[in-house]
Amino acid sequence: DPELVAKGEKTFRKCKSCHQIGAGAKSKTGPILNGIIGAPAAHVEGFRYSKAMKAAAEDGLVWDEAELAAFLAKPKTYMKGTKMSFAGLKKDADIEAVIAYLKAATAE
Ligand code: HEM
Repeated sequence: DPELVAKGEKTFRKCKSCHQIGAGAKSKTGPILNGIIGAPAAHVEGFRYSKAMKAAAEDGLVWDEAELAAFLAKPKTYMKGTKMSFAGLKKDADIEAVIAYLKAATAE
């Protein structure tokens, strides 16, 4: 749905201060987000994740849409000790849209 992707691109402005996605993306404050949907947590090589994120990865966390939606709603509540300093997305519609954008931007 191109409209949902366009909406998600706007929502992604809130993430851009820390994350890049697409061709030529580099990890900054946050890891690159190419291919993040369906990827195991903490898989980006060379990025220094928090202990909390590494522990979640060891416990088998995979960023399927449900896990990602829960994380993005309230990062610090979802994962105590994460170093993602972001309050979260309040609206379910924004979460749905940003997930659609993450998928589309990866494919570009
Ligand atoms: C981690 C998405 C906003 C900083 C992550 C991860 C995802 C994500 C999926 C896990 C990555 C992985 O396991 O490889 C998003 C989205 C955002 C957003 C979609 C906007 C809606 C931000 C902002 C910041 C930030 C604004 C900086 C202020 C980080 C950091 C991590 C992270 C530092 C690593 C967390 C840790 O190791 O505990 N983000 N993020 N993110 N993000 Fe974000």
